[in-house]
Amino acid sequence: MSETDVERPRVVLVTGAAGGMGATHASTLAADGWTVLLADVADATPVAEKIAADGGRATAYPLDVTDRAAWDRLVQEVREEHGALHGLVNNAGVSRRLRFMDTPPDVWSRVMAINVDGPFHGIQACAPLMRDSGGGSIVNISSIAGQIGYFSPSYSTSKWALRGLTKSAAGELAAWGIRVNSVHPGLVETPLLAGSDGFVASAVASIPLGRMGRADEISDVVRFLLGEGSTYMSGAELTVDGALVSNGTYHRILTEMDGEL
Ligand SMILES: NC(=O)c1ccc[n+]([C@@H]2O[C@H](COP(=O)([O-])OP(=O)(O)OC[C@H]3O[C@@H](n4cnc5c(N)ncnc54)[C@H](O)[C@@H]3O)[C@@H](O)[C@H]2O)c1
Repeated sequence: MSETDVERPRVVLVTGAAGGMGATHASTLAADGWTVLLADVADATPVAEKIAADGGRATAYPLDVTDRAAWDRLVQEVREEHGALHGLVNNAGVSRRLRFMDTPPDVWSRVMAINVDGPFHGIQACAPLMRDSGGGSIVNISSIAGQIGYFSPSYSTSKWALRGLTKSAAGELAAWGIRVNSVHPGLVETPLLAGSDGFVASAVASIPLGRMGRADEISDVVRFLLGEGSTYMSGAELTVDGALVSNGTYHRILTEMDGEL
């Protein structure tokens, strides 16, 4: 970190930071020297207090990512209180593991509102302040369900949509010095998967690395995309899944055949 960075800490906003992976992204970035703004419909204060107790800089803000007016108010507050914004992690997301014909229209709409409209509002609201701060980096948390066919239409479609949103924004915001990339985690141990033991056990059988991912393994990739090591990366997608997408099918077939070809 340069002297200038020490004088003016870089500021990043993480949505869905009250728990799960968002909380881990927040503490990882704070440990890296970022001033972290945690935004969530749930109370992120305990996470912010833990970061502060560990010597980091963090503030919790209430935010429903589907509410555009709330985004605009939050960004105005950030402009007044911190004077700059260099990073945005669109992490808030919900999953309803309902099969195609069992998905009611209201579930479809709600999942799309949080997982797609949320990041769209976030990018539109934050980009001008990031431009005024000299540019920055936006990371959209998609999923491997946005790279392959997945039985739950609302979740899969929302996560595929994030790829398009990422690439569209990357082209448009390059002129403002803002990079936009997406991260596609596989199965990661968080409350999102609570109560899905059968699903998880069966899915792990298709993961060549033989286990679920840890939240900190996703946070390390987010940190990379926000940082100085990725300054020529934009419009890209990084899959972090223990080789599930690239090799899951044949891994399972070989396992079931007990290695006999
Ligand atoms: N856990 C996994 O295996 C996995 C895999 C791939 C992708 N993801 C994605 O990673 C992201 C984080 O997932 P997680 O597993 O940590 O989930 P989680 O359920 O543990 O946490 C999600 C957070 O988002 C917040 N949130 C929900 N709706 C919101 C809204 N309208 N406005 C603001 N905040 C809201 C919740 O309060 C919660 O703190 C999600 O986008 C998810 O789709 C998760």
